[in-house]
Amino acid sequence: MIESYRLQPINFTPDTPKEFVLLSIIAQSFFQPFSLEDNLLVILTALTSGAGVGFNRAMLFLREGERLKATMWLGPRSPEEAQAIWTMLSSPGLGYAEVVEHNRELISRTQEKLKLQLKIFNYNLEDEKSILPALAAQRKEIILVKDAFSEPLLDRRFLDFLQVDSFLCLPLLAHNEIMGEIVVDNAITRAPISLKDIELASLCALLAGNYIYTTNLYKKVVEMEKMAALGEMAAFISHQLRNPIVAIGGFTQQLLTNPCNPERCHRNLGIIQEEIKHLEAIIYQLSHFLKIKIKELIPIEIGPILKKILERPDIKNKSEGKTISLRIMDNPPPILCDPVYFEEAIVNLLDNALDVTPAGGRVYVRAYSIRKNWLMILIKDSGPGLDDKAKEKLFSPFYTTKENGIGLGLLFVKRVMEMCSGKIEVQSKPGHGTIFKLYFKIPERRGI
Ligand SMILES: Nc1ncnc2c1ncn2[C@@H]1O[C@H](COP(=O)(O)OP(=O)(O)OP(=O)(O)O)[C@@H](O)[C@H]1O
Ligand SMILES: [Mg+2]
Repeated sequence: MIESYRLQPINFTPDTPKEFVLLSIIAQSFFQPFSLEDNLLVILTALTSGAGVGFNRAMLFLREGERLKATMWLGPRSPEEAQAIWTMLSSPGLGYAEVVEHNRELISRTQEKLKLQLKIFNYNLEDEKSILPALAAQRKEIILVKDAFSEPLLDRRFLDFLQVDSFLCLPLLAHNEIMGEIVVDNAITRAPISLKDIELASLCALLAGNYIYTTNLYKKVVEMEKMAALGEMAAFISHQLRNPIVAIGGFTQQLLTNPCNPERCHRNLGIIQEEIKHLEAIIYQLSHFLKIKIKELIPIEIGPILKKILERPDIKNKSEGKTISLRIMDNPPPILCDPVYFEEAIVNLLDNALDVTPAGGRVYVRAYSIRKNWLMILIKDSGPGLDDKAKEKLFSPFYTTKENGIGLGLLFVKRVMEMCSGKIEVQSKPGHGTIFKLYFKIPERRGI
């Protein structure tokens, strides 16, 4: 026997256990592409909304180095403001998303002024004589403050700001490391903070601490990846530039120190010129690749561009002794791309195909539509083909097996295809040549 249920958003009723409401709200927000700030706002909202824990106000502190800094404060500033907000939020049909949206708007409206006020709540976590609110984070303990006005372990400025007799300090921890702290209170309703409130709030704190931890970790990984890519690029560029520069230096030195016969001078100058051309090519390709950005996709006719490419001097030179066979379907539909980048992408693929095709061999170029909305351009060579390992490396930046290659050609083609919302596929087997397939979107024809 089987039972089936439809996947649908959970509807909360007044009887739904609050732990369940909290967990589902926070879990849903964590899987959205929200920023750290937005997700922390969701947690503060969960702590302060009636559907969640139901505190009146919540203040968030984040750890920066060894300091704990107040960064966000959510909640009504006065009983009148509270009344207005609660009336608005209790309107029928208002969901949790609207509450978060309302709070986001509230934060952005009050942010500037609040920032200045919150700035003074900045505590050293290494301080031996720490006071509340930082004490809770430092001790890694939840602290409930009662009779705040007579509590000696409390920062007076903080109390002057909160103006409340009782509040709860929740450290945000992950892997036993301090990530921040949340302070909640019931300044408007004056409702006592119960054990149940503390349990629910600690659940939110646990999630917030781990969320900050994973977000920081993710940021670090992205940063490391960027640094690794930068390092790889710097190593490649210096490696590529070193050989021509050393050659130019050596031959120039020879010209300056040894008076040489005109023939030798001429030969040296020729080598220097060649090396400079090579340097120019590297710099051109690099700057060209880094600059690529398509402003607007326009419908383009592929036929004339493909025919023009075969007439280009660079392609003609390269294809000497080889054949390029071009076949395009009748009346090919226009595709969405940028004409200049389209031409360069095809030239890059042809350039590679001609490099591997032996004298007397053929390169095939075909263009035809696939189903209703795709046009495919195929470039097949008669080269040696590639094994799986080589195929995996094709689109890696600076991967090249050629003496004068830069290893950016295929990456360029891939980026152009991504920008045209198309795709690129490779089929290859050792001994059977290689096929590159480019799929372009055909724009919908309106009014036909
Ligand atoms: N059609 C092909 N058949 C076999 N190997 C290929 C083919 N196309 C590319 N490759 C391999 O992939 C590598 C990367 O190609 P890519 O076009 O990115 O750089 P490149 O041709 O080496 O240099 P450049 O930046 O000047 O284009 C080539 O060096 C080659 O080893
Ligand atoms: Mg290439």
